[in-house]
Amino acid sequence: MRLKYKRAAAAVLAAVTLSGCAGRQTEEKLQSGDAPAGTVPAVTSAFVEETAPETTPAAPETTAPITTGGPESVITATETGEGYTVYDRSETRYSTDTVNIRELPSTESKVVGQFNPGDEANVTGYTSTGWLRISYNGATAYVFGEYFSEIKPELPEQDVVIPEGYYFSSPSDYFFIVNKENFLPEDYAIETDFVQGSYELEIVAAKHCKDMIAAAEKDGIDLKVLSAYRTVDYQKKLFERNVNSRMEDDGMTYDEAYYDVSINIAPPGGSEHNAGLAVDIIDRNHWDTYTAFEDTKEFEWLYAHCAEYGFILRYLKGKEDITGYIYEPWHYRYVGTEYASAVMASGLCLEEYIGQNMT
Ligand code: DAL
Ligand code: ZN
Repeated sequence: MRLKYKRAAAAVLAAVTLSGCAGRQTEEKLQSGDAPAGTVPAVTSAFVEETAPETTPAAPETTAPITTGGPESVITATETGEGYTVYDRSETRYSTDTVNIRELPSTESKVVGQFNPGDEANVTGYTSTGWLRISYNGATAYVFGEYFSEIKPELPEQDVVIPEGYYFSSPSDYFFIVNKENFLPEDYAIETDFVQGSYELEIVAAKHCKDMIAAAEKDGIDLKVLSAYRTVDYQKKLFERNVNSRMEDDGMTYDEAYYDVSINIAPPGGSEHNAGLAVDIIDRNHWDTYTAFEDTKEFEWLYAHCAEYGFILRYLKGKEDITGYIYEPWHYRYVGTEYASAVMASGLCLEEYIGQNMT
């Protein structure tokens, strides 16, 4: 069996002003007191990453527009909310787009998850304002009916396919994908070691990272670690803090803030930092120039030498629609010395490299 990697919504990512997001210095502001080493706690399944802002049109005021089977005569109103009535109806519907799942039938309501095209929705009713009531992770939630059909949509052929066997399998396996759609197992546990100051990585990655920093120093390159291993719990706090600060400091709506954070910071359990295999490094003397790091001699050195130590530049410019993240010249992923040089030389992001070469 081959597992498919679903691409992030390219059109949506293209619409984002990447330079604006990159200039936000999202992660580094929050790294003081980075997470201690230890067993990674369980991934919270309630946390679902959003890859697209909702573009729900104004909901109609009249009776639900969905065309469903079943005679009208058997439908009974079972619930009345603020400005809407909910009618019972049990059926399966399929998402035709990337759609937010909300606590209540309103675009103002909290996003609790997301459907991707083709995902199955367990519908339990519909509202007079055009929303579907669904059962989602054991709770009641709502999605806008316009994005759901009775027939499962034909999905276009995906161009990035991750073969089975390239997800996490054991702590000595470094050449695997962890991303927005492929989370670490709940019992993921690693041995860590210090890299610089209080920052730690998985023990083998840590040794190679220390060797890399020492080699750079010999060449007159002073590298500063900004972030390394993070617990899943810390990743969750990091994500939430960034959402809140965008709302409070920048006046974004919840949806805007959530989306902006989701292209900068991985969801808990879906970060390479949670695996202890990613390190954020920049130039020690100009560490405030976070996004301008690309123009430094330190970046040039890292780009040229990281693969010798088993690291790759992970989130590449031009690959945002595949990785789901902005270009991050500071984020290096340990994949092991066997593969790092080939991946760097390929110009492909890790999803593409594995998809094209490991079949
Ligand atoms: N900034 C990267 C995507 C992370 O949070 O893992
Ligand atoms: Zn990082």
